[in-house]
Amino acid sequence: MSEIFKIIEKTKLDVVNNPIEQSHGLPNECYTSEAYTKIERKKLFEEKWSVIGVASSVPDPGDARPFDLLGIPLLILRDKNKKIKVFHNVCSHRGYKILNKPEKIANVIRCPYHSWAYDMEGKLIATPHIGGANKHETKDFDKSCSGLKEVRSYVWLDLIFVNISNNTESFEEYIKPLSDRWSKFWTKEDQRLIKHPKDHGYFQLKAKCNWKFAIENYCESYHLPWVHPGLNSYSKLEDHYHIESDPNRFAGQGTTVYDPRLKGSKKFPCFPNWPKDKEKFAEYVALFPNVMLGIHRDHYYAYWLEPINHAYTLEHMEVYYVGNEAAYSDEYGDLRKENCKLWLGVQSEDVNIIEGMQAGRNSPSYNGGNFSPVMDTPTHNFHKWVATNLTQLLNR
Ligand code: FES
Ligand SMILES: [Fe+2]
Repeated sequence: MSEIFKIIEKTKLDVVNNPIEQSHGLPNECYTSEAYTKIERKKLFEEKWSVIGVASSVPDPGDARPFDLLGIPLLILRDKNKKIKVFHNVCSHRGYKILNKPEKIANVIRCPYHSWAYDMEGKLIATPHIGGANKHETKDFDKSCSGLKEVRSYVWLDLIFVNISNNTESFEEYIKPLSDRWSKFWTKEDQRLIKHPKDHGYFQLKAKCNWKFAIENYCESYHLPWVHPGLNSYSKLEDHYHIESDPNRFAGQGTTVYDPRLKGSKKFPCFPNWPKDKEKFAEYVALFPNVMLGIHRDHYYAYWLEPINHAYTLEHMEVYYVGNEAAYSDEYGDLRKENCKLWLGVQSEDVNIIEGMQAGRNSPSYNGGNFSPVMDTPTHNFHKWVATNLTQLLNR
């Protein structure tokens, strides 16, 4: 019997994939069960393209940092050719977790336990005293088979994606539907202009809830009038449209009245190729499983989720501006500060709500709930994505 059947009845997952009028959302176990989370890690994170950080957090050759993906220890490194590499953060000798804090690697990645050393390609190059005192080689051990295990990775718009199971399509194919959609807003040249500021470009929120609540809440604009009254004062419910993808791998909403109300007359520079007839468009897309993106004519952000366990999530907000001036100069410092504060306010309003959803999931009377057939279609798409991927496990 498949493991997941011990946790969730099959009918509870099947009903999620019904037409929206006859479906329910994911059952409580998907939010409250630690055992379920182990299966989810494999099906929704390891077997997909998941975000584990941003390349600008390791800006220089030799910069390295650890990241744990629901307990899987990983090591992010910028190599000598400035390329991002991701390895499993475990020594091939006795399995010590090599890197425990961000570090600058001079030449080799050295394991603190018995000092085995790896080069930046992950190749094992030194095994001190392996053949006895002062014998650093032995004919009985072939170093070439014991390097660090590299993880398939890809950097897109500064985000580091990994596919740990090495089982799915190329990243280029995976991202194509979203990248095609957004080609109406920006060109490759525009995308190269995004810069991550050193001040007011990042904040972290702690959400005492399951990571999926952040995604499903982000997919819809239905909650705007009640949860974001400030935002709703100029970007109203009726100014929004749904975003759904085919194949189903992202969902969200867009607005047609984006007009940043930042104090003063100064404005951020805009993407040079953003079309004039779409100046007031902005789109907010959750790319499954764990990143929420926001695209506007004058800034872009990636809000990615680090699930810690089934009921605790760290949310990382990374804001980008158009060109060096906007991102780094003092001239735009106050604007950056104000814009970052605005987003901190909005995202904090959402955290309050999603923590309440976690609390509600402790009710045995709740059956996954009902969707508005009109307002909740993007959220339903995310639930279907989860249920479908879990069901594929059942059918194997
Ligand atoms: S565990 Fe790393 S060198 Fe022994
Ligand atoms: Fe919201």
